[in-house]
Amino acid sequence: MENLDWANLPFGYIHTDYNVRCYYRNGKWGALELCSEETINLHMAATCLHYGQEAFEGLKACRGKDGKIRIFRPEANAERLQSTCQGIVMAELPTELFIEAVKKAVKANERFIPPYESGATLYIRPLLIGTSAQVGVHPSSEYLFLIFVTPVGPYFKGGFAANPYVIIRKYDRSAPLGTGIYKTGGNYAASLRANKIAHELGYACEFYLDAKEKKYIDECGAANFFGIKDNTYITPLSTSILPSITNMSLMQLAKDLGMKVERRPVPEEELSSFEEAGACGTAAVISPIERIDDLENKKSYVIAKEGKPGPICTKLYNKLRAIQYGDEQDVHGWVTILD
Ligand code: PLP
Ligand code: COI
Repeated sequence: MENLDWANLPFGYIHTDYNVRCYYRNGKWGALELCSEETINLHMAATCLHYGQEAFEGLKACRGKDGKIRIFRPEANAERLQSTCQGIVMAELPTELFIEAVKKAVKANERFIPPYESGATLYIRPLLIGTSAQVGVHPSSEYLFLIFVTPVGPYFKGGFAANPYVIIRKYDRSAPLGTGIYKTGGNYAASLRANKIAHELGYACEFYLDAKEKKYIDECGAANFFGIKDNTYITPLSTSILPSITNMSLMQLAKDLGMKVERRPVPEEELSSFEEAGACGTAAVISPIERIDDLENKKSYVIAKEGKPGPICTKLYNKLRAIQYGDEQDVHGWVTILD
């Protein structure tokens, strides 16, 4: 793709050649279909439109120095999609079919995979929706699974650069026993108001506290939270946050670096004691946190004192990226190489 400005891509939708589709009918999944249509033909009474039967995933493919294409932890995304399906009562897609579909979508759009060291990656967006016409509140009997891919640049401003974040207390994203642990569109709809406020005030993203006590850090709208202090990687344990695959990977990498890892409730006041902190996710990778403001409580927790990413965030970021690009050995078996 000679006419794409790889180094300056936004995190947005760019048309690619193909998407992959698979239909669930009569209790079983059909064959994978390669499709060049960007639109879908949907019944107006489909359950995804009215009752939110929608699940999605996000993962990335990178082109290495060796020219090989690596897809990061697709099994983990397949498993999380299955968990979301259980959470909102949809037909589960087997892991092998998910991975086959991911590979097919990446392969068919190979010319859109950004060059090594361009700073861009190929974002893979699997989507699963209930398609049966239904007016009563019931799960659909038919589903469409679809994957599109699009080349993307960094999600947060500057990529690996420290940004300010803000705690929004006025709105919750998800309830303690709600759907926050699932990757379903409703959670993102619930986050849009707080997200809009955060952006209008010039912050990178909004942070949520736990909905019950408003005491503990949950996560931000599109990424998990971690803090670093005393050679320890600390990340919230909560029933209302998305189990981030990036965060799981960083926990392992922190251990590999000889750090301690703690997964436990993180009270807001603890923010003042972190030496470094970051927002992490597939789109975000690691977005180092400069400070987190709690405007309603008139507090500002400054974390990156010099406004720059700290040494441990930098090490974790470099390590993760090195594995994703094949610059470093994939000792944990996280990478699927496209054949
Ligand atoms: N939390 C939320 C709400 C997200 O939308 C995402 C993005 O996927 C994450 C966390 C990070 O998850 P992962 O690392 O699996 O992309
Ligand atoms: C991701 O990191 O993959 C996400 O889904 C975050 C956001 C784009 C919703």
